[in-house]
Amino acid sequence: MRSVKRGFRRLSILPGMLVPLLLTGCEQDMADQPKYEPLEAAAIFPNDQSARPLVEGTVARDTVIEPRPARPPLPMTEAVLKRGRERYDIYCAPCHGRAGDGEGMIPERGFPRPPSYHTDRLRNAPDSHYYDVITNGFGVMFSYANRVAPEDRWAIVAYIRALQLSQHATSDDVREAGLEDKLREAK
Ligand code: HEC
Repeated sequence: MRSVKRGFRRLSILPGMLVPLLLTGCEQDMADQPKYEPLEAAAIFPNDQSARPLVEGTVARDTVIEPRPARPPLPMTEAVLKRGRERYDIYCAPCHGRAGDGEGMIPERGFPRPPSYHTDRLRNAPDSHYYDVITNGFGVMFSYANRVAPEDRWAIVAYIRALQLSQHATSDDVREAGLEDKLREAK
């Protein structure tokens, strides 16, 4: 009686051995899925690229979409303009040029040339447009949201406004600012 029991016990090991065997079979199927490996060529796409570009407007799951304050929270003081110039020269001038004319060093080397800030369209664009371009990027220009803090974005906008004025001031502006003497001296 005892030996019969032992025999059964031995048999009951069998399914235990079968299951892992079956699972290995499955694993093989999963490895051979009909999918493209990273960087694998795919004749059905242009340039044989199986890696597809992100759909326009794709936002990463953890992206923080910051609400934009309705009005620039910074007063136009000399300190703000100085800060704006410093940040502008670091983050924007390499492409937009120190004068904002789009003649930066990077476009010289082949990056698409940005438009000059001294066109009617950009002169008339609201401050919020500049803030949004820095925050979200624009066309081929990427976002500077993770490099330029919101306060500094407004400081840069203030400085761009000063740049625009510097290239487009009327004699009325000069008179209002009480700078006629300086202008005469410069002539
Ligand atoms: C790497 C180069 C590069 C840098 C750096 C850069 N930009 Fe640009 N920017 C561009 C290009 C190129 C365009 C034109 C994009 C397009 O039309 O596709 C552009 C466009 C713009 C425009 C015009 C948008 C319009 O309405 O036509 C503004 C404003 C602007 N950038 C502001 C900034 C500011 C402010 C900074 C610094 C925080 C900055 N950019 C940094 C390359 C750059």
